Amino acid sequence: MARRLLAAVAIVVVAAALACGAGAQLSAGFYSSSCPAVHSIVRQAMSQAVTNNTRSAAAVLRVFFHDCFVNGCDASLLLDDTPTTPGEKGAGPNAGGSTVGFDLIDTIKAQVEAACPATVSCADILALTARDGVNLVSLGGPSWAVPLGRRDATFPNSTGAATDLPGPDSDLAGLVAGFAAKGLSPRDLAALSGAHTVGMARCASFRTRVYCDDNVSPAFAAQQRQACPSADADDALAPLDSLTPDQFDNGYYRSLMAGAGLLHSDQELFSNGALDSLVRLYGTNADAFSSDFAASMVKLGNIGPLTGSAGETRRPNRSGQHCGVRPWADHSRHHPVTVRILAGKTSVPARRARQA
Ligand code: HEM
Ligand SMILES: *[C@@H]1O[C@H](CO)[C@@H](O)[C@H](O)[C@H]1NC(C)=O
Ligand SMILES: *[C@@H]1O[C@H](CO)[C@@H](O)[C@H](O)[C@H]1NC(C)=O
Ligand SMILES: *[C@@H]1O[C@H](CO)[C@@H](O)[C@H](O)[C@H]1NC(C)=O
Repeated sequence: MARRLLAAVAIVVVAAALACGAGAQLSAGFYSSSCPAVHSIVRQAMSQAVTNNTRSAAAVLRVFFHDCFVNGCDASLLLDDTPTTPGEKGAGPNAGGSTVGFDLIDTIKAQVEAACPATVSCADILALTARDGVNLVSLGGPSWAVPLGRRDATFPNSTGAATDLPGPDSDLAGLVAGFAAKGLSPRDLAALSGAHTVGMARCASFRTRVYCDDNVSPAFAAQQRQACPSADADDALAPLDSLTPDQFDNGYYRSLMAGAGLLHSDQELFSNGALDSLVRLYGTNADAFSSDFAASMVKLGNIGPLTGSAGETRRPNRSGQHCGVRPWADHSRHHPVTVRILAGKTSVPARRARQA
């Protein structure tokens, strides 16, 4: 009886480990023999992109977050719509957003494929770009070792994107619950929200905030209303952190402490609630923010990755949509030879051809 109970407990423990512990299989050295160049290729490309336009860093950071919150960090967000399957890009808070991040990931994937064909997943490239962007944006952002070894999803989840991504009208309880559903704590929520120290939001995302909220600095609201009229101009942009918009620092938290959070959801973190003290800590102690942000980014990146033989390593599409399409997907079952040609290789692993 006791032994059977023990066995049952063991099964439950293993099941829990399978459901939650897949992140343990990721490791920073995953490509150290198969593609050591991936680190310098991504860094170089991100450096150029950020020099050209600092918002590149914000763009890929947000793509990473939105990918990880839907079916885990598996590049499912990068898949374009197909005639039969709507992708995640048009769903929920992804709809209408900037496409700069998607294009940049495709460019970098092409460079990585040229050096190491069919080796590095889009999901891992995304995780590296997010880290490098943060670190490069003001040459002062935090850095961390990125656990790697993710594989790419073979299908998107547009309904998950509509339900699982937090929107700008969320209240604190909703934000905490949404993060808890992904295994992230309120502290992770407070730290990761610091990503809004860079990047922009559209008027449509903050109009209600600056016209209707009462926990907003009147001067800040008046200033934002100039850029965001009460009707039209939905796409007019404003920086999420108006104090230091192009630096990866703790300015976001100092903005919140001044009642100058741009999004309603931002200000919810500092609104006489449970997270006020963390906002004060991060706003006054930049090192505390940097180290908590880095630790929480690793946790974010560990959400539900596909590893081992699950999923696939997405292959390039010659017209440039490298992470956005699965060129073999629609035809491979009937025309395996076509798949091989499209993939630009003489052989395609049997498993991938079967799966497709
Ligand atoms: C806590 C819940 C969150 C909510 C409700 C939220 C919501 C939003 C909204 C509404 C925008 C503006 C989109 C637009 O108007 O086009 C935005 C932008 C952004 N978000 Fe979040 N976000 C959250 C958390 C995060 C997290 C955890 C990260 C990354 C770790 C992140 C990274 C970004 C970045 C970098 C931008 C700017 C993107 C750009 O300039 O292209 N956000 N977010
Ligand atoms: C540089 O940034 C601009 C937007 O600011 C963008 O249109 C252009 O494609 C970027 N060029 C490169 C080479 O990344
Ligand atoms: C899509 O996401 C939803 C919400 O997280 C989840 O319940 C559902 O199982 C996902 N669907 C697939 C096919 O993964
Ligand atoms: C690549 O993707 C584009 C856009 O989705 C598509 O039109 C084109 O047919 C694809 N090319 C190949 C070789 O699969």
